[in-house]
Amino acid sequence: YRILVLNGPNLGALGVRQPDIYGSVGMDAVPGLVGQVLGAGASGVKLEFFQSNGEGALIDRLEQARRDGVDGVVLNAGAYTHTSLALADCLAWIGLPCVEVHLSNVLARSEPLRQKSYIGRHVIGVVAGFGITSYALAVQALVLHLDARQP
Ligand code: DQA
Repeated sequence: YRILVLNGPNLGALGVRQPDIYGSVGMDAVPGLVGQVLGAGASGVKLEFFQSNGEGALIDRLEQARRDGVDGVVLNAGAYTHTSLALADCLAWIGLPCVEVHLSNVLARSEPLRQKSYIGRHVIGVVAGFGITSYALAVQALVLHLDARQP
């Protein structure tokens, strides 16, 4: 499977940004964690990474993934999770299975706004609160979902 791992605003400095909340490990740890979680199954997965601080660039990248025939998306939309109708509208039509990811447990954070997700209704599920491991668990969930869809 080809899986796009898409990161939104302020996730380019992962590992450096507020490590008490988001951890001190960067995205470069994700392939190794996917290997740990999927074991031999990891060989059937090709990850593509993209990060942007801009809402439009994220939507452009999702449209490109659709054109390219990417199988699914693991998406940490950062703060756009809680604000972006535009990103939600994109997920609503592109027809790519998507898992929503958060490093932190957004439901346990103090700002009530973080408990609202605009994209939530357009994703197959959510993984939140496991730090960088959230991405690997999301890839695993997406692979199981894609496997179950095979005829
Ligand atoms: C986040 C949670 C969001 O509320 C926040 O705006 C982020 C990161 C997370 O991964 O925990 O930028 O998506």
